Amino acid sequence: MRIPPRLVPLIEYGIIQSVVRPLLSGKEAQVYLVESGGELRAAKVYKSVQERSFRNRSSYTEGRQVRNTRDQRAMGKHSRYGREQEEAAWNSIEVDTIYKLDAAGVRVPKPFAFVDGVLVMECIGGSDGGVALRISDCHLDKEQGLVVCDQILAEVVKMLCADVVHADLSVYNVLLEERGPVIIDFPQSIGASKNPHARKILLRDVANITSFFRFGRAPEELRYGYEMWDLYERGQLAPDTVLTGKFDIPEHLVDADILLLEMQQIEEDEALAEFGEDLDFDS
Ligand SMILES: Nc1ncnc2c1ncn2[C@@H]1O[C@H](COP(=O)(O)OP(=O)(O)OP(=O)(O)O)[C@@H](O)[C@H]1O
Ligand SMILES: [Mg+2]
Repeated sequence: MRIPPRLVPLIEYGIIQSVVRPLLSGKEAQVYLVESGGELRAAKVYKSVQERSFRNRSSYTEGRQVRNTRDQRAMGKHSRYGREQEEAAWNSIEVDTIYKLDAAGVRVPKPFAFVDGVLVMECIGGSDGGVALRISDCHLDKEQGLVVCDQILAEVVKMLCADVVHADLSVYNVLLEERGPVIIDFPQSIGASKNPHARKILLRDVANITSFFRFGRAPEELRYGYEMWDLYERGQLAPDTVLTGKFDIPEHLVDADILLLEMQQIEEDEALAEFGEDLDFDS
């Protein structure tokens, strides 16, 4: 295929030998399957700020370390210099995070290079020999789904132990490899100990996963986020901690958004029971 202009420098530097085909294009980036270092790898080309869809990032960028106060002021003012700083910060957050998590033993694509705004990383393969599917595209039955759900939660625990909250975790940002799930797409990740919204964001990340893999389980059995954060705050979370999902939420810790989700789930169950429909565990 024609070489995308953003990949030309990497070919010239000898980092990439050829571009095989585009993989899925997301909101933030275009990912290509490339040949690099004698194997197939994924190259993630970040879109510029203008090309990206708008998101409210204030809660994400809060608490983030920016090199100096000039950069901080510029990012606040949205000057051209500010936009460039914001852009560089956005790209490098994913790269810094992926290197950090790889070193911490979290299942993420192995990073190889970050050059001219392009991240070259391991291409995660699927069980059919092709590129791995996102969890959202896999058809898992209840038995498989429960295993995968626990595996993802175990990775979230390891990430939290490395002081990272993904902040955009969902079944669209987890790929399924033969050995289990692999977490991707980290530009929004935040420091668990630095960001004042980290707890709420972690609860949302975890709820995104558990609500996909509910399989009729009661919301009170799926309080993994609360349990994890409580152990983390008390310094008792370890990378190999096994969670129960059960947690009595003290009144002052109740999170309105998550409770709303729990209430919706109970209503859904009641509606299904009323109309006598079977719960479909295969989707
Ligand atoms: N290392 C990888 N190996 C295999 N496929 C990958 C890899 N990284 C990304 N992909 C594919 O490219 C898609 C887009 O990647 P990613 O989610 O990182 O980008 P994005 O543009 O930030 O997406 P989003 O729409 O979630 O914002 C993924 O859904 C996945 O299908
Ligand atoms: Mg994504």
